[in-house]
Amino acid sequence: MAKQEDVFKTIIAHAKEYGFVFQSSEIYDGLSAVYDYGQNGVELKNNIKRYWWESMTMLHDNIVGIDSAIFMHPTIWKASGHVDAFNDPLIDNRDSKKRYRADVLIEDEIAKFDEKINKEVAKAAKRFGESFDETMFRQTNPRVLEHQKKRDELHTRFAEAMNANDLNELKQIILDYEIVDPISGTRNWTDVRQFNLMFKTEMGSTADGAMDVYLRPETAQGIFVNYLNVQKTGRMKIPFGIAQIGKAFRNEIVARQFIFRMREFEQMEMQFFVRPGEEMTYFEYWRNWRMKWHKALGLGDHKYRFHDHEKLAHYANAATDIEFEMPFGFKEVEGIHSRTDFDLSQHEKFSGKKIQYFDPELNKNYTPYVIETSIGVDRMFLSVFCSCYEDQDLGNGDRRVVLHFPPAIAPVKCAVLPLVKKDGLPDKAREIQHRLRFDFTCQVDEKDSIGKRYRRQDAIGTPFCITVDHQTLEDNTVTLRHRDSMEQERVSVDDLEKILSEKVSLNGLLKKLL
Ligand code: GAP
Repeated sequence: MAKQEDVFKTIIAHAKEYGFVFQSSEIYDGLSAVYDYGQNGVELKNNIKRYWWESMTMLHDNIVGIDSAIFMHPTIWKASGHVDAFNDPLIDNRDSKKRYRADVLIEDEIAKFDEKINKEVAKAAKRFGESFDETMFRQTNPRVLEHQKKRDELHTRFAEAMNANDLNELKQIILDYEIVDPISGTRNWTDVRQFNLMFKTEMGSTADGAMDVYLRPETAQGIFVNYLNVQKTGRMKIPFGIAQIGKAFRNEIVARQFIFRMREFEQMEMQFFVRPGEEMTYFEYWRNWRMKWHKALGLGDHKYRFHDHEKLAHYANAATDIEFEMPFGFKEVEGIHSRTDFDLSQHEKFSGKKIQYFDPELNKNYTPYVIETSIGVDRMFLSVFCSCYEDQDLGNGDRRVVLHFPPAIAPVKCAVLPLVKKDGLPDKAREIQHRLRFDFTCQVDEKDSIGKRYRRQDAIGTPFCITVDHQTLEDNTVTLRHRDSMEQERVSVDDLEKILSEKVSLNGLLKKLL
């Protein structure tokens, strides 16, 4: 069986080869942790965003959207805590001159224990075959228990150091566990220091007195500072939500795992404003609703899990992550936080403006509490892409690479393929495409054998191929090929719009959420 690492490399290569994701500035040797989306990638990304946006703003009467600017007044970031506390703990290796995140080095060490445990389990599963009881084995095998004990000890020490912001202790853990630089192989480490993740630039010319501004590290603050504008102009009543999709920027130190951790990325965030004291009801609602949104895509329920935070940030009174099983393990795709009235109160304090809500039912003013759902578009893209990728053995030495995208978010919905490039078949194919293109992204492909063209469409995840042959000219029927089953059926050209819209429309997906 191929190693997960190799599978991931193959998936990344496929994303490039088929126009989904390119390294930014590639002809200049690339810019680390920055990526561009190609012709198919942008369609998939836009469809993911549309699914999120419509599920928020169209399925909820009390949620509206905004699009706030990337640049904001610098005091916003002071108020939100990002200037003082949006830091990563950094450590340098004096020999390789490379810089690392101290927490990531330790997390990797923890993952090594997990790997050892998984190896033991895999070995035993092979040895015992069908009679293998994994739960029992994990609870009783002495080697597994030993690794687990060491893992838990390290994890506890690490969590305590992170929570206490104890940089000396982080360094001490690195020394005690003899963690070496993967490049130099040495333990010649500097002290651990904090590094702020925000990108800073200047606004206005120096003569005018330039002002330091930041590229926003999250879209959420644009919602907080506009919440009263939206509430008043939209006559919104609590509870209500504001949704936004937009770019965010973080100067990530450890950039790896392709588009999982980027320096420029996109977020889809929704802040839901509620009465103080009612936040837990809405936290539960959004926790469940967001999981339902993910699972409706049909990528496999077992690939998701919640990770409830035990230790909460000082401004939160509940928090959970939705994690997805990536080729490199379960990883956070979305965060759901009950953020109390922290952000709004901070903005009130720093701006000196009253931004309380008047509740007509209670006849009083208060600062609303906020539930936040925050998902990375790029991480969502990665989870969809990785889980839909299959290098499929078709028997008799035949293989195909297929992307089993949920049809509603597939970049191209259908391809019309004239069987041969003559006898008027290409013209008929164009005629069909011209009918379909108002509702569906639809390509015509005439080049190469029909088999090769099917493979090309499979490789970009097109759910339907429509083959035009000589019979089409006689009776106006075509062959409709289904991507996943590869089954073919003969259907009338006049029925294509109806058949396709039933299978590929976003509405079908949205209806699953109600
Ligand atoms: N407003 C809350 C907030 O920004 P976060 O957990 O820092 O919370 C939310 O980020 C989501 O944004 C994450 O769950 C992840 O999907 C995405 N995200 C964060 N940093 C990212 C990065 N460097 N690259 C890609 N996506 C990122």
